Amino acid sequence: MNVAVLISGEGTNLQAILDYEKEWHQHSPCPFHVALVLSNRKEALGLRRASNYKVPTVVVDPKEFQSRESFDEALIHHLEQHQIKLVVLAGFMRILTPLFVRKYYGRLLNIHPALLPQFPGTDAIQNALKAGVKKTGATVHFVDEGVDTGPIIKQEVVPVEQNDSLETLSQKIHSVEHRLYPEVIRLFGEGKIHLRGRNVRVDA
Ligand code: GRF
Repeated sequence: MNVAVLISGEGTNLQAILDYEKEWHQHSPCPFHVALVLSNRKEALGLRRASNYKVPTVVVDPKEFQSRESFDEALIHHLEQHQIKLVVLAGFMRILTPLFVRKYYGRLLNIHPALLPQFPGTDAIQNALKAGVKKTGATVHFVDEGVDTGPIIKQEVVPVEQNDSLETLSQKIHSVEHRLYPEVIRLFGEGKIHLRGRNVRVDA
């Protein structure tokens, strides 16, 4: 199953996904293959991570397009060229148009640094700290037309300690994300994730 990872920045989740695929390969064929990394920013550090693994990269610069739809059409063009079956958003800082979301619905994933539906949108970790919650976490979900509103696939809790700062809590959430996301992608590749309306069944 060819996977595309869409990034805008650091790409630590991308790194975890690439490492997982590589490690899995040492025992048996991995159920997924990262065949393309797409970025909307040419400075994205994640592009270098992809090149280190010899994964093809493409930068699609929004400034070169007159509308959100034409930008998304360019993304679709690259995804089709690489025969992508699953699209994985990993810190991709753009809202995709309904045109894109409808085309890939059910095979378009995102990871969010909170326990959705709490703290959607940007600054989720900061907002959790501000709200004084004792537990937050990470969520992998299908993307729908809203912001962080799609059907939830898997979540993992991260306790908030009294002395946590934005930095320490971010680190804890990221390390959970790095474990959770590749696992969900592998389960998807194995056909173990079933979407029924708002509900997602994951086979053990
Ligand atoms: C992650 O925290 C993810 O939850 C959010 O964006 C961040 C991306 O980090 N959607 P990285 O680029 O993978 O390091």
